[in-house]
Amino acid sequence: MASYKLLLLILVFAGAFIQYINGKLSPKYYSSTCPNAFSIVQGEVIAAIKNETRIGASLLRLHFHDCFVNGCDASILLDDTPGFIGEKTAVPNNNSVRGFEVVDQIKAKLEKACPGVVSCADILALAARDSVVHLGGPSWNVGLGRRDSTSASRSAANTSIPPPTSNISSLLSSFAAQGLSLRDLVALAGSHTIGLARCTSFRARIYNDTTIDAVFAKSLQSNCPRTGNDNNLASLDLQTPTYFDNLYYKNLLKEKGLLHSDQELFNGTSADALVKIYASNTFKFFEDFAKSMVKMGKIKPLTGSQGEIRINCRKVNWK
Ligand code: HEM
Ligand SMILES: *[C@@H]1O[C@H](CO)[C@@H](O)[C@H](O)[C@H]1NC(C)=O
Ligand SMILES: *[C@@H]1O[C@H](CO)[C@@H](O)[C@H](O)[C@H]1NC(C)=O
Ligand SMILES: *[C@@H]1O[C@H](CO)[C@@H](O)[C@H](O)[C@H]1NC(C)=O
Ligand SMILES: *[C@@H]1O[C@H](CO)[C@@H](O)[C@H](O)[C@H]1NC(C)=O
Ligand SMILES: *[C@@H]1O[C@H](CO)[C@@H](O)[C@H](O)[C@H]1NC(C)=O
Ligand SMILES: *[C@@H]1O[C@H](CO)[C@@H](O)[C@H](O)[C@H]1NC(C)=O
Repeated sequence: MASYKLLLLILVFAGAFIQYINGKLSPKYYSSTCPNAFSIVQGEVIAAIKNETRIGASLLRLHFHDCFVNGCDASILLDDTPGFIGEKTAVPNNNSVRGFEVVDQIKAKLEKACPGVVSCADILALAARDSVVHLGGPSWNVGLGRRDSTSASRSAANTSIPPPTSNISSLLSSFAAQGLSLRDLVALAGSHTIGLARCTSFRARIYNDTTIDAVFAKSLQSNCPRTGNDNNLASLDLQTPTYFDNLYYKNLLKEKGLLHSDQELFNGTSADALVKIYASNTFKFFEDFAKSMVKMGKIKPLTGSQGEIRINCRKVNWK
């Protein structure tokens, strides 16, 4: 019995140590230092979505593009300076990512309420969750305690974020590189139930792919000609683009995914089974989506004394 207790004790301490070296995130991280953080972020997100519904999708995507580039460290928020090129003009981001003004607005409110406490990386994680919830999707507890990077990497942004031309094997390896599985890939791609894409992101698909519904392809071509109008927009979910539901998967079953990469998830591979499950079971989609968002939010966070808490999300403190 005594040796059993000793073993238990050792296990508990080992667990605590592993949490410490992993810099584990906690939903309660700001409960004494900034108890209003949740309501401030949520209030600003709801106001921003009331002003423009699409911004919820844009905020969700910002967290993804942050986490996939050297971890969830707000590197994507850094502006270029004369001596420094950030991630905003990397290929997947240029003329595409949006929502920076909303993050600034949230940060300004947080700095008034609790100066120097809440990181920009945590703002992105909370704003993504609040956006999904407000648009009708699932909720989850956001682990907090991320700190902000003092650098960014345009080349890593070029290579780590998968392009819409990706095939299933490229998608899988790009997610695996972040510690994310096939299930995470298919669940997180369900984000494309909201938001818009530019013509340049789906042109090759609507003119050249064989795995696309012909009527659907035709309907997109008038607004996305073979050349020009690169920035014309179409909904990622043709049915309910401002509502977080499982219709994205139902579209894939009918070869009506907007991006080539979307349709790759239902094209005769092991991903098909998951698409079918999520298309028929919103609850299962929501459950897996929430789990995978938590997992994505844990990609290589800076914790403890690493990085800093930026005062202005667009620049490092000492510049
Ligand atoms: C599986 C690989 C993925 C690829 C290849 C991909 C690619 C893209 C592309 C090309 C766009 C349109 C960008 C434009 O034309 O300006 C887009 C939009 C979007 N993506 Fe993804 N994405 C992927 C995964 C994800 C994930 C994991 C999330 C979130 C967790 C996400 C959230 C979004 C959202 C919400 C939008 C709409 C943004 C807006 O309307 O502002 N995507 N994605
Ligand atoms: C409201 O949305 C528009 C885009 O539709 C944007 O230009 C504007 O900055 C937003 N205003 C606020 C206060 O967020
Ligand atoms: C980003 O977009 C701008 C405006 O369209 C363009 O001038 C610039 O060349 C693009 N940058 C990169 C690196 O593609
Ligand atoms: C990212 O890709 C763009 C377009 O190919 C290129 O102009 C730029 O030099 C790349 N940046 C880095 C740092 O790799
Ligand atoms: C998938 O895309 C990658 C990168 O473009 C390419 O090297 C590979 O051959 C493709 N695989 C298949 C099965 O088409
Ligand atoms: C998708 O399916 C089509 C038709 O079966 C096939 O030609 C194509 O190679 C598949 N795409 C990939 C990358 O597996
Ligand atoms: C479609 O494929 C053809 C032949 O590979 C290519 O020349 C053309 O540029 C492609 N069209 C689009 C819109 O990508």
